[in-house]
Amino acid sequence: MKRSGRSVRRLLSVTFLAAVMVTGCGSDGSNGMVGPAGPEGPAGSAGVTGPAGPAGPAGAMGAQGLPGADGSTLDPATFTITTPHGDMTLQTLAEIQPGLGTVMIEYGIRMNNAWQAVHATPPNWDMANYQVKEAREIQEVGEFTRPGRAAALVSFEDTFLVPLQDDTTVASPSVAAFEADYDAALGGCNACHAASSDGSFSSYGFVKVIRPTGSHYQNIDWAGGL
Ligand code: HEC
Repeated sequence: MKRSGRSVRRLLSVTFLAAVMVTGCGSDGSNGMVGPAGPEGPAGSAGVTGPAGPAGPAGAMGAQGLPGADGSTLDPATFTITTPHGDMTLQTLAEIQPGLGTVMIEYGIRMNNAWQAVHATPPNWDMANYQVKEAREIQEVGEFTRPGRAAALVSFEDTFLVPLQDDTTVASPSVAAFEADYDAALGGCNACHAASSDGSFSSYGFVKVIRPTGSHYQNIDWAGGL
C-alpha cells in the first residue's frame, strides 16, 4: 500500500534543497559567489534575493559555486548558507537531520499513545488512528536520512503498521483485533532490533519494546472529547 504523503514529502525535500541552493547563490555575492543575478537584486541582504535578473555570464560562479557548465560540483563541506543564527555548511545541515534513534524514540511514544487511546473508556479510535498515522510519517524521515534501513522500515510498515491503523478505522473497531495486531507489531519491532547492527553494536536486540505499563503523558485525557 503506497502512501500519498511520501512522494510529496520527498518532493518537498528536494524543493527545499533547491531553494537553499538558489538563495545561497545570492545577488549580493555572499558566500563568496558571483551569482547569475540581475541588476535589481537588493545589495547586501544575506541569503535573500530580489527578482531574478538576466542570467550572468557562464562560469562566473565563485569557489563554492553551483554545478556549472565547466563540470564543477558543489562541495557540501564548504558550501555555506547564511541563517539567522549564523553561517552553516550544507554538510552540517545534512548531519543535523534526525537519525534513526530520534525516529525510534517517537515510534516508542506513539505506540504507547495508540495503546492508551484504545484502552480509554470509551476507546478513542480517532486518537489511535492519528498516533499510528504519525508514527508512519516520522518513519519517512528515517527512510530518507538512513537509506540503508529504508527497505526494512517500509517492509515493517506495510506488514504491521498498515493493518494496525486499519483496525482503528473499520466500521466497528475491535479492541481484541487491535491488541492482536499490536502484539504482532511489537514482534516486528523487536525482530528488527535483533537483526540491526552498526559500528557500535552487533545487534540492537537489547532494545525490547512491550505493551505499555503506563501512559507516557500525564496531561492527556485519552478518552478525548470536549
Ligand atoms: C528497521 C528496523 C527497525 C524497526 C522496524 C524498528 N526499530 Fe526500533 N530501533 C532500530 C535501531 C537500529 C535502533 C537503534 C537506533 C540508533 O540509535 O541508531 C532502534 C532503537 C529503538 C528504541 C531506542 C531509542 C532510544 O534511543 O532510546 C526504541 C524505543 C525503539 N527502537 C522502538 C521501536 C518500536 C516501538 C518499533 C516498532 C513500532 C521499532 N522500534 C521498530 C531499528 C528498528
